[in-house]
Amino acid sequence: KRLVVLVSGSGTNLQALLDAIAENGAEAYGAEVVAVGADRAGVEGLARAERAGIPTFVTRVKDFGTREEWDRALADAVAAHAPDLVVSAGFMKIVGKEFLARFGGRTVNTHPALLPSFPGAHGVRDALAYGARVTGCTVHFVDDGVDTGPIIAQGVVEVRDEDDESALHERIKDVERRLLVEVVGRIARNGYRIEGRKVVIQ
Ligand code: GRF
Repeated sequence: KRLVVLVSGSGTNLQALLDAIAENGAEAYGAEVVAVGADRAGVEGLARAERAGIPTFVTRVKDFGTREEWDRALADAVAAHAPDLVVSAGFMKIVGKEFLARFGGRTVNTHPALLPSFPGAHGVRDALAYGARVTGCTVHFVDDGVDTGPIIAQGVVEVRDEDDESALHERIKDVERRLLVEVVGRIARNGYRIEGRKVVIQ
């Protein structure tokens, strides 16, 4: 299976996928990353792809007159690599109707909280501020909401009294990277069905 991965920052989730594919071999893992895209230039996630010899692209919102034009351009850039699956791993933009028309139902996102709790761009900070005793991460299919699509898998992380946002996020990312690698490999190898809110992996 062909994966296009979308990043906005450090790309450690992308790196976990690249490492799993390198260790297992694309055949055994069931997928290969054919391109990495970002909404901004110069992020570490793009450098990780370049180091792995993987094509990259940047589609910046500010280069387009409207959000819809950006959304279409992003969809075109992704489509150019003919992915079977798109993985949003720390991609900090909400994709729109055009993108979902073409890649809905086969775009996976990872979020650093136990959805439906704490959706949005500050899930770790919000869980901490709320005083949650456990939080975690969620791998889900992207739908037309914000972090609202059908859930594939979740991982739980204890919140510690001494935690600040970055310490907690780092512990969440340890679980998240393992969860994402496991889920992407399974759905790539076995196929899946989405039945309403349920995801069934064959
Ligand atoms: C991940 O925790 C992701 O869930 C969140 O931002 C983080 C991205 O980390 N949206 P990285 O860029 O994969 O290191």
